[in-house]
Amino acid sequence: MTLENLCKIADECTECPLHENRTNGVFGEGPADSRIMLVGEAPGRMEDETGRPFIGSSGKLLSEIIESAGMDRSEFYITSIVKCRPPENRKPKKPEYSKCMELYLHKQIELINPDIIGLLGNSATHALIGKSSIKQIHGKTYERDGRKYMALFHPAAALYSRKLLPQLKEDMLALKMFVEP
Ligand code: URA
Repeated sequence: MTLENLCKIADECTECPLHENRTNGVFGEGPADSRIMLVGEAPGRMEDETGRPFIGSSGKLLSEIIESAGMDRSEFYITSIVKCRPPENRKPKKPEYSKCMELYLHKQIELINPDIIGLLGNSATHALIGKSSIKQIHGKTYERDGRKYMALFHPAAALYSRKLLPQLKEDMLALKMFVEP
């Protein structure tokens, strides 16, 4: 299985109700050998229209944060816990993200085999490492099944509350330190 094959399957997926409102699936993008993977919550309107992750306003801020840490977004593999946009941008439900992660995200992680996975926001953090309070655990690393994870605020949170931005930039810099030489 390659990322391309898996993406084709995801684009046709009907395993959960989220596919009903899909314009485009948003599988994820970035080099297949990225050392850092970033996982968000769910595609929004712009992402659904284009099939690309994090290209709306939170995506623009994400690019800025990555650049402030001396990196470029093209170095990252970027995706979310579900590949189809939830109606009215509601949060994905547990049966939706559990199924989607089982079919796609866990396989993407296996194929890419990153040094560290940055979890953007509460939904991704809860779905992947079972932790709830991002305010308390952001910037810390956790190991699950031999993989390293770090929770960061979702860039959308920093759009609402600009005071989170310096912290998000600091955590992004910390994430970079986990790339193995
Ligand atoms: N927010 C996310 O969590 N994922 C996207 O792809 C876009 C916005």
